[in-house]
Amino acid sequence: MASGGGGDDDDRQQVVLITGCSQGGIGHAMARAFAARDCRVVATSRSISSMADLDGDPRFHLQELDVLSEGSVKQVVGDVIDKFGKIDVLVNNAGVQCVGPLAEVPLSALQRTFDTNVYGSLRMIQAAVPHMATRKKGKVANVGSVAALTNGPWAGSYTSSKAALHSMTDTLRLELKPLGIDVINIAPGAIKSNIGNSAVSSYNKMPEWKLYKPFEAVIRDRAHFSQGIKATPSEEFAKEAVSAILRKNPPAWFTYGQYSTISCVAYHLPIFIRDFIMRKAMKC
Ligand SMILES: NC(=O)c1ccc[n+]([C@@H]2O[C@H](COP(=O)([O-])OP(=O)(O)OC[C@H]3O[C@@H](n4cnc5c(N)ncnc54)[C@H](OP(=O)(O)O)[C@@H]3O)[C@@H](O)[C@H]2O)c1
Repeated sequence: MASGGGGDDDDRQQVVLITGCSQGGIGHAMARAFAARDCRVVATSRSISSMADLDGDPRFHLQELDVLSEGSVKQVVGDVIDKFGKIDVLVNNAGVQCVGPLAEVPLSALQRTFDTNVYGSLRMIQAAVPHMATRKKGKVANVGSVAALTNGPWAGSYTSSKAALHSMTDTLRLELKPLGIDVINIAPGAIKSNIGNSAVSSYNKMPEWKLYKPFEAVIRDRAHFSQGIKATPSEEFAKEAVSAILRKNPPAWFTYGQYSTISCVAYHLPIFIRDFIMRKAMKC
């Protein structure tokens, strides 16, 4: 495991803690982009082996972290503060997709989605913010999704969890400002990653749909909707997102990638037009 040293260099360098850094995903690309901007990066994921390519590079400190576990979150945040003396930037990137019609999706799957995407991020924030508040300094970047702007069919568990995260992010930006902490909503468009494969493997464990049996093929297709050939490379997305986060005055909202502009436009359309477009696109 890569580890840090002491000295003046470490005081100058920003310490960035990122969740969900498995190779091939956005978190991993952001870890590399922060390192390229001379940050000390605490890259975390559920298993060290998923970040094996970062091992041995002194710019990275690798830790196992499961955002579903309060114990894991507290331990890693505590260890990072002990080791580096600070956390300058927390990136809540870990997330899971969940595909299935809301009227039939098992509640346990929906709960797990919210536990990861919403409560997982808040677990990290509640662990890191007291430390940032004592320094009156810090940044929290929550990775939401443009999917929460259009709320189409078949992935309602996921889009509603991201909408909840966007809402929490807006509140946190106001509540954490007096503590000296900036909060940034990062809303990726369609970005090349492992999310499609993970979503398909979760989808394969879903029960057979009853009311929605005729829609099985289009529902399944929703699992890898973001992973078409024109999906934005994660490295390109990460470079732009990291630039935005590292600005002295970071933006409240950052979006980039395939479908990001069209989703922002669709958000402002009258609902009947948005529904018409979504029905056509998602075949329902
Ligand atoms: N790719 C897109 O088009 C897109 C669009 C909008 C938003 N996003 C968001 O971007 C973020 C990163 O996703 P991605 O596209 O890079 O997908 P990904 O490649 O599947 O990465 C997701 C990461 O989250 C981790 N994770 C899942 N559950 C976790 C848990 N309980 N504790 C800690 N880590 C956990 C995964 O770990 P494992 O490898 O162990 O599963 C993986 O490292 C997510 O929040 C996603 O919703 C992605």
